[in-house]
Amino acid sequence: MKAVAIKEFGGPEGLAVIDIPDPAPARGQVLIASEAIGVGGADVMIRRGALAAYGFRQGHVPGGEVAGTVTSVGDDVDPAWVGRRVWAFTGTGGGYVEQAIASIGEVLPLPATLSAVDAVTLGSSGVVAHFGLTHAHFKSGEAVLVRGAAGSIGIMTVQLAALGGASSVAVTTSSPERGRRLRDLGATHVLDRTGRGGPGDPVGYDVIIDVVAGEEMPSFFDRLNPNGRLVVVGAVGGQPPADFGTGLMAAFQKSMSFATFSAATVTESARRAVRVEQFAAVGRGELRTVVHEILPLEHAVLAHQKMDAGEVFGRIVLIP
Ligand SMILES: NC(=O)c1ccc[n+]([C@@H]2O[C@H](COP(=O)([O-])OP(=O)(O)OC[C@H]3O[C@@H](n4cnc5c(N)ncnc54)[C@H](OP(=O)(O)O)[C@@H]3O)[C@@H](O)[C@H]2O)c1
Repeated sequence: MKAVAIKEFGGPEGLAVIDIPDPAPARGQVLIASEAIGVGGADVMIRRGALAAYGFRQGHVPGGEVAGTVTSVGDDVDPAWVGRRVWAFTGTGGGYVEQAIASIGEVLPLPATLSAVDAVTLGSSGVVAHFGLTHAHFKSGEAVLVRGAAGSIGIMTVQLAALGGASSVAVTTSSPERGRRLRDLGATHVLDRTGRGGPGDPVGYDVIIDVVAGEEMPSFFDRLNPNGRLVVVGAVGGQPPADFGTGLMAAFQKSMSFATFSAATVTESARRAVRVEQFAAVGRGELRTVVHEILPLEHAVLAHQKMDAGEVFGRIVLIP
């Protein structure tokens, strides 16, 4: 079957279409004929080699989520799954393939109301958004800032904060056009990437959900209200400065909290329950999925070029 692998860390051209043997599901696994594959910000970081310290090597097949039809099952998996349309988390890789392997615990039936393309814009990012807000102890009536809101995690976070009764949902983004689209999804205030807004924008936030991190991260400690919480859920802007603890101590009198959040710390059953609910919420029209573009799997290089160029709003989806 065809797959896309990282031949060489660095630019998108380091991705290559390769032929690999058709996989067979082991015990507890299913094989899925992929109809749609999500391209995530994490795939880009892995391709750049930025996560090599976490064990990612050249030759890695990126991609964490697929949707399609189960074609076979391993031992201990109910054969009734064969023929079902599903969404699946493939882990930190293994998604850019025609036929994907997933553990049955990470496989969810696709409701009739949700397309495969929509499912892979939502399955992973919705969970990060939901539990990122939970980790921040977000509650109705609070002022929220989503930093890096134009990606799939940010778009879901904006919607969930608005649905959850936030008093305001501010976003950082790089263009007025993106700001307009984020307002359509529930943002109430649009700021530039540095977090500067105009007259009438909030001056403090109870919760900041940060997808960016990077050198600028400590400057956002100052934007927290007393007892405010900043939760880092991504690092698309790179690592924060090594001495960012100094900034935390400078904000001492705010009784502020700083935390990171990884969906890997949430139980499989809790993630599943949230996904079932979010898939249904899309069907009811309460949550919206944002597909930037659909490209053939063989055009993964182009997909990553678009990600690197910063032109993607929402998710790029690859189709085998
Ligand atoms: N916590 C978890 O469990 C979990 C799970 C999966 C992935 N992740 C992490 O989440 C991140 C990817 O999320 P995503 O796919 O939603 O993000 P994304 O689409 O790659 O980026 C989100 C937005 O951030 C802005 N941005 C990009 N670079 C920036 C920079 N240098 N400074 C300021 N803003 C910048 C861009 O919007 P504008 O141009 O509009 O500013 C971009 O659209 C990765 O770090 C990944 O490792 C975390």
